[in-house]
Amino acid sequence: MISRLPEPQPSRWTKVKDALVLPGILGFARCGAVSTKTTSPPAQTMIGRRVVVTGATSGIGLAACRQLAGLGASVILVARNQNKADTVCEEIRKFWASQVPPVTSVSLHVELCDMSLIREVAQLAKRLGPVDVLINNCGVLVPKGEPKAFTEGEGVEMTLATNLLSHYVLTNLITFRPAASTPSPLSTTTLPAATTPPASPDLPAQQRPRVVNVSSGGMYSTKLFPKDLSYNSPKEFDGVDAYARTKRAQVVLTDLWAEVLFSKCGAAVHCMHPGWVDTPGVEYSLPGFYKWTRRFSMLRSPDEGADTITWLASSDEVGPRATSGGFWRDRLPHPKHMSSNTTADDTVADRRMLWNNLADAAESVLAGAPEGDELREIRFQRL
Ligand SMILES: NC(=O)c1ccc[n+]([C@@H]2O[C@H](COP(=O)([O-])OP(=O)(O)OC[C@H]3O[C@@H](n4cnc5c(N)ncnc54)[C@H](OP(=O)(O)O)[C@@H]3O)[C@@H](O)[C@H]2O)c1
Repeated sequence: MISRLPEPQPSRWTKVKDALVLPGILGFARCGAVSTKTTSPPAQTMIGRRVVVTGATSGIGLAACRQLAGLGASVILVARNQNKADTVCEEIRKFWASQVPPVTSVSLHVELCDMSLIREVAQLAKRLGPVDVLINNCGVLVPKGEPKAFTEGEGVEMTLATNLLSHYVLTNLITFRPAASTPSPLSTTTLPAATTPPASPDLPAQQRPRVVNVSSGGMYSTKLFPKDLSYNSPKEFDGVDAYARTKRAQVVLTDLWAEVLFSKCGAAVHCMHPGWVDTPGVEYSLPGFYKWTRRFSMLRSPDEGADTITWLASSDEVGPRATSGGFWRDRLPHPKHMSSNTTADDTVADRRMLWNNLADAAESVLAGAPEGDELREIRFQRL
């Protein structure tokens, strides 16, 4: 079940640039976005597709919602603040209404959820109904020097909860369209059963479900830590390193889901790096980096950062199984490691441990739901 299947391979030129590290990292800046866009085909229409975007009220997530809505998708914005979400919807509608010709049939819907709270996330998955595309974008980085923080009432380390565990739970509990013909191999839950027809092996790429995991180039700095998801070692907490670890784990989970979700419902699963993007998140979490990169006009616009998300969510080129499991930037597959130092602790057994430890962590939080709550019954399959 967790053998390594073929995944999209970077070109020789991309491999050389990324192996040289400096040109690879410079590609994270604005110049990377500009050079790729001119050579890539446009994203395709998404009329009739239900797309869920987490972290939809700011930065890259907001830009992705705007782009996807413009392609005709029915976009479900997951947000923790109703007022902010309403303002964002208004902004997106106004944007499209002011285009020539104006687009007035924009479909936006808000779902409230604090993505750091696993019980809320499981309830969200239950409410959503069948979806075509899930974009796991929401993420936090605890600024350097700040202490470790835990989620209220659930006690999960904040970076793990928001960047990884929430998306693990949402992706495994959500119902994808076309739904599985057999019960989900991932969970035995009391959540609603699929209501749409089973996946056909011949399903056109456009109709296949998609998952896009928004990872980060920060993951290049670390190996996988499947045993220490809560960042207990080293003792002194480092928010930047904790962030990188969750982003590395997301890349590995993408591989696992590429296999599991393909057999379940024909889904293609991708992860990507948006590049260095000018967002409120970067300004708050990395103030020094933000100041320096802005000064030299190195940051991308949120639209440039979201471009590959929208493309991965919509293009026929990246629907088939052979394209699934890759790590993308600027519409091109990139290597998952820039140095051999980060390849340790990523055996089949380590991957199984990552998956199973996330399942244990999720179940233990869900078990804390009030007596009689169906969330307590949710079980995730172990690999
Ligand atoms: N910007 C970059 O250069 C960059 C580079 C690499 C990867 N990324 C990744 O891209 C993704 C988006 O980042 P960004 O730069 O656009 O960040 P951002 O501007 O801080 O936006 C983050 C979004 O996540 C939401 N969010 C955070 N915690 C939440 C919670 N507990 N519940 C619900 N929503 C929550 C925020 O909601 P509020 O609006 O309510 O705060 C906001 O909508 C992240 O996964 C990040 O790691 C960004």
